[in-house]
Amino acid sequence: KSVGAESGLWQHLYQFLNRASSPSLPGPTGHFLLGNMLEMTHDHLPIHLTNLAQRYGDIYRLKCGNTTMVVLSSSEVIKEALVKKWSDFAGRPISYTGDIVSGGGRNISLGDYTEEWRAHRRLVHSALQRCCQQSLHGVIERQAIQLKKALSDYQGRAVDLAEDFTVAASNVITTLAFGREYDKSSSELQQLHSCLNEIKLPNPVFARLLKEVTRRDEIIRQHLSNYKSQDKKNEDAITGALLQGIEKQHNTEHKELLTDVHIHMATVDLLIGGTETTAAWLNWTIAFLLHRPDVQTRVYEEMVTVLEERYPKYSDRHRLPVLCSLISEVLRLRPVAPLAVPHRAIRDSSIAGYFIPKNTVIIPNLFGAHHDPAVWSEPYSFKPERFLEGGGGSTRALVPFGGGARLCLGESVAKMELFLFTAYLLRDFQFLLPDDEASLPDLRGVASVVLKVKSYKVTARARPTATV
Ligand code: HEM
Repeated sequence: KSVGAESGLWQHLYQFLNRASSPSLPGPTGHFLLGNMLEMTHDHLPIHLTNLAQRYGDIYRLKCGNTTMVVLSSSEVIKEALVKKWSDFAGRPISYTGDIVSGGGRNISLGDYTEEWRAHRRLVHSALQRCCQQSLHGVIERQAIQLKKALSDYQGRAVDLAEDFTVAASNVITTLAFGREYDKSSSELQQLHSCLNEIKLPNPVFARLLKEVTRRDEIIRQHLSNYKSQDKKNEDAITGALLQGIEKQHNTEHKELLTDVHIHMATVDLLIGGTETTAAWLNWTIAFLLHRPDVQTRVYEEMVTVLEERYPKYSDRHRLPVLCSLISEVLRLRPVAPLAVPHRAIRDSSIAGYFIPKNTVIIPNLFGAHHDPAVWSEPYSFKPERFLEGGGGSTRALVPFGGGARLCLGESVAKMELFLFTAYLLRDFQFLLPDDEASLPDLRGVASVVLKVKSYKVTARARPTATV
């Protein structure tokens, strides 16, 4: 007992010395009002936080009501917190609305770091991995072909492709989750997207939020019960692997740690995490390519030279460096989750030598890290070639999926999607401005939780080599 008391004493002394000797964090004086901050999401909050980093450095604090937030804006400090000291910063801030949306903190993205959360994430991670090995490639290829068909049906008309990208990304997830895909015109799909979008809005009206969460839960519940009642179930679907995982757990000491509610919430996690992100990224890619048609030509020429008639497989990626450089550069300039999801310090710790007390909210400013002039030459320019010539930046400094215990759960799904969707589209189509008068897409973006490009129209002209 006395050893325990003594070590407790040492710990207090150590913390005191640590706090006392540590310099205080720089940051703007005065309080940042939460309301202002949320309003700023319309005014590109990531850019605002990145500008503050130019004044205060890659780690600074913001006071927001009673909460102190620490903003990290270089890949070095982000990796120190999220990867090296992952166990100190794996928490999530607890909020009232977050609790409602996440079924009382029982989902993965908003749930706090507890034993239950760890078991939940492990279960979904292994179900996803199993599914990735068995069927992911085929599932994405099928949606890439459907997407090509949708583009071909436009017959060169000027269109906004945002919705087609959303349907493709959403179908990958619904096929993985419960073996179902939807038509663009399906009312069920539109209902699902409309309530997921409403729930994600910053500053939601409370009554509206409750209504949308109820609607969302009804839709998901229906899907899961349909899946369970099928005689011939799709064995590859994640739902099947999750149900088996829960069944297995009944025979271990973790009895009842995870229940059907966790399967329900994991489905919500995958749908929210995996739809708008991938769709927004695809829409950014086409927008950037309209600004740089020469990049589009290089990607196409590389594909037909290396693969000839054949369509790419994910395993071809090492032979297609130009295509990969395009993917990396769009992820760098427009990380679609620009501020990741806020983390919370679950114990006293430090970052870059600054003392960080327990419960501090950490904002990983991925957008800032990707525009850090110490790492990237001409950080605001779209230059995929920077990844080919070995100058002006390196893929090691990219952190679009975060890192550590909270690393994006869908990273491998997303990477395969970005590769196959882009490859299939650029292999068969040339993307052009609708006419000489049309202005190029506005590349500043609209930042909410997901950073999106403002809507624009494009013409997809089939290449002579296309097989659509
Ligand atoms: C979390 C990025 C696609 C599921 C995250 C985070 C980022 C991110 C930055 C937060 C990490 C953190 O808190 O530090 C992206 C990007 C994507 C993408 C850039 C595509 C371009 C996907 C897909 C799925 C997915 C396809 C599902 C299949 C999730 C989930 C979380 C998450 C469940 C929460 C993880 C946790 O809190 O432990 N993602 N994501 N994401 N993502 Fe993704």
